[in-house]
Amino acid sequence: MRVGVLTGGGDCPGLNAVIRAVGRRVMTHGHEFVGIREGWHGLVEGIFEPLGPREISGLLPRGGTIIGTTRTNPYKLDGGVDKVQQNFSGAGLDALVAIGGEDTLGVAARLFEERQFPVVGVPKTIDNDLSATDYTFGFDTAVWIATEAIDRLHTTAESHNRVMVVEVMGRHTGWIAVMSGIAGGADMILIPEQPIPIEQARDQLRRRHERGKDFSIVVVSEGYELDGAGDAGELDQFGHVRLSQRGVGDALAREIEQRTGYETRVTVLGHVQRGGSPTPRDRVLATRFGLKAADLVESGSFGRMAALRGDAIVDVSLAEATSELKTVPSSWYDVARAFFG
Ligand code: F6P
Repeated sequence: MRVGVLTGGGDCPGLNAVIRAVGRRVMTHGHEFVGIREGWHGLVEGIFEPLGPREISGLLPRGGTIIGTTRTNPYKLDGGVDKVQQNFSGAGLDALVAIGGEDTLGVAARLFEERQFPVVGVPKTIDNDLSATDYTFGFDTAVWIATEAIDRLHTTAESHNRVMVVEVMGRHTGWIAVMSGIAGGADMILIPEQPIPIEQARDQLRRRHERGKDFSIVVVSEGYELDGAGDAGELDQFGHVRLSQRGVGDALAREIEQRTGYETRVTVLGHVQRGGSPTPRDRVLATRFGLKAADLVESGSFGRMAALRGDAIVDVSLAEATSELKTVPSSWYDVARAFFG
């Protein structure tokens, strides 16, 4: 067999660890392993790269993706899906492992459903917003990075008696904000799923300061709706806006300062959350997902995705995994809320 692998969407720590695990297992089974460059773009254009033992060695701690990634959607390109199929067959490929989030795997699910394309999925994203898996790899690293930043902001906030607003990624869900906020001891966390009005946030901060605390840490998710945040700009091929462009952190800091009189600063963590080496937890999860994906290929179980349920690696249908976003349940937010103000 010739097994292809692609990484699509935003990169995240652990992609290379998956490539390594899939490669190790398919090569052990005597198959060839082929990298497809830059996500679906590589299949639309037919850009391949053979991957052997040398290419997949030393990848475990390496951030990013050695085969590149884009947000290409073949369904939005003229003849894109036909080209995917032609190039796939032309390269003599028998199976595809698609590593991605809701967009990349949404394409995989559709290809499988409409054309019986031999694809299996591996769930990645720092946002942790994919249904059907308890966690995606990349998320733990992003939370670790955000928590470290919050810890550092605590000391400078305290020295200057300031409010520090920290804007984190997460798109339309608040997973990174809630988890890093709990871990970092945030005094207020604002996420899209819990649209707390700014007046309520202001009152909580005031109460805290009246109790004798002279500083506060506010974590805000980039997707939190706030009047005064800017325009998100153009849509990408999957119909997403660039939430980071709205400047919700800046707008929030302005509001807080105006409404409370407390000196306020903002830190936008941005792509730092996606860069660098994965945490041990993400390396292990990525490795287990990669082995599972290779096993699904071996058994011909296409249209499936590796997933984490509790502590077990299972497989679920790609259709199920991409049908809806996994938002932060209020029970998680209640844990964070217990420490507000
Ligand atoms: O989906 C991962 C993510 O990092 C989101 O949290 C964020 O909104 C988006 O990608 C940023 O995308 P880009 O890398 O295209 O700026």
